[in-house]
Amino acid sequence: MVALAADDEASAFTAETTVPGMTVTRRVSVDVSRPTQVSWPVIPGAARLTALLEAWADDAEAAFLARTAPGGSQPPELTVSGSVIRAVGSVVVVRMSAVVEDAAVAGSGTTRVSRVFYADLDRNEACSGASLFAEAARTQTEQAVNLAAAASGVTVPEAGGPGTSILDNADLVPTGDVVVALDVQTSSPQRRVVSVTLPALQVRPALSDLGRRIEAIIASGRPYAGPLPDRGPAATPAAAGGPEAAAMTPAALVSPAATAAPSSSVAAMAHPVDCAVLKCVALTYDDGPGPETGRLLDILSASQVKATFFVLGRSVTAYPEVVRREAELGMAIGNHTWNHRDMRRLAVEASLQELGTTRDLVERTSGAKVTLMRPPYGAFDARTRTLGWPVVLWDVDSEDWRNRSATVTTQRVLSTVRPGSIVLMHDIHGSSVDATPGIIAALKSRGFVLVTVPELLGQTSSGALYFSRTNIR
Ligand code: NI
Repeated sequence: MVALAADDEASAFTAETTVPGMTVTRRVSVDVSRPTQVSWPVIPGAARLTALLEAWADDAEAAFLARTAPGGSQPPELTVSGSVIRAVGSVVVVRMSAVVEDAAVAGSGTTRVSRVFYADLDRNEACSGASLFAEAARTQTEQAVNLAAAASGVTVPEAGGPGTSILDNADLVPTGDVVVALDVQTSSPQRRVVSVTLPALQVRPALSDLGRRIEAIIASGRPYAGPLPDRGPAATPAAAGGPEAAAMTPAALVSPAATAAPSSSVAAMAHPVDCAVLKCVALTYDDGPGPETGRLLDILSASQVKATFFVLGRSVTAYPEVVRREAELGMAIGNHTWNHRDMRRLAVEASLQELGTTRDLVERTSGAKVTLMRPPYGAFDARTRTLGWPVVLWDVDSEDWRNRSATVTTQRVLSTVRPGSIVLMHDIHGSSVDATPGIIAALKSRGFVLVTVPELLGQTSSGALYFSRTNIR
């Protein structure tokens, strides 16, 4: 007996978790003629898993670049991302997905490919879903999935090339059932993910030795144990948590209910700045938090400067402590959506969900209020103004993502900045962090006061576009 269920892409926002010491590697191309966002989780003690995830992400990006042409009125767009969907005992399960938006593709223009990866940290093993099944049982199991789908009128898409299997998408759940997500192309703009469930009774006899070990660990429901302490260089110091950290469930890490809201810092309370009188400028950093953000916060706090961070919800799940620190230091935190999708291509409900999930997570994590948004790529249309958010853009573009040079970034900022400016930079690039001390020193020497965007703008209205303090449309 096989069960079928359909879901929409909202499911992408659920069932995400994180594990102690987890980081996310991101590569973002801000080339609006063919934007790509590629990321994957990096889990301490799981070097083999990381290598598999990176290779899969690289392949997806290479295939996208080979199959699409840049430009056009609706440029193709790729989003590759991964989420931890399960962390039990020594086992971590990650679902990677690659979503391509391309108007040249028939139907909705959306294609989605995903794959589920498993790692057993105690044995230093990693594999994708098909390896959970014994070679001899694989074909029969694939047929069971195909038949179930066909019986419900669903055409199963081709697996992703030679050597891959529809079972690469198998999610082995704690009951021993296997859920296979099928990426189904429909003519409606809302793409559907249809799931086929194989019951445990059918799954168990088909499992490989590796599959049986992983099934037993997932069924145990034990707390996530983290990497072995003597794993060597693969384990990062952050992950070498004692028994206390090991006993922490992943859910406890993403639910910051126990975290008190930070007390507002004295500096933030001190003197309200009147930007109608003073030469104010707001430095803004997009696309974080990331591995460089902590270093940037050290620089800003050493110079007693408050900046504004437009964060991605997806990255906040990986760096909750960094967002907490941003709030504690009195930085302003704005909303840069969950997935960094071009909002002109999203339905209004999807945009609202991108913004709502991000706002809720930042507020729960840091206690900071999130009242401003910046659309990814600065790309907006009339609908973006109806979402209930003030839209913060910029009048000084450092182009740091393109030049990746602290010198060029600094020159661009200093040659175009004016009183009331909003400066765009990205805290995911080390060169932008490197440029920051020099930019701050030069601005201060020219008599600028560095403020947050809320301080610069004062009262804001939803739907208004803010390019600078005085350029408002
Ligand atoms: Ni961005």
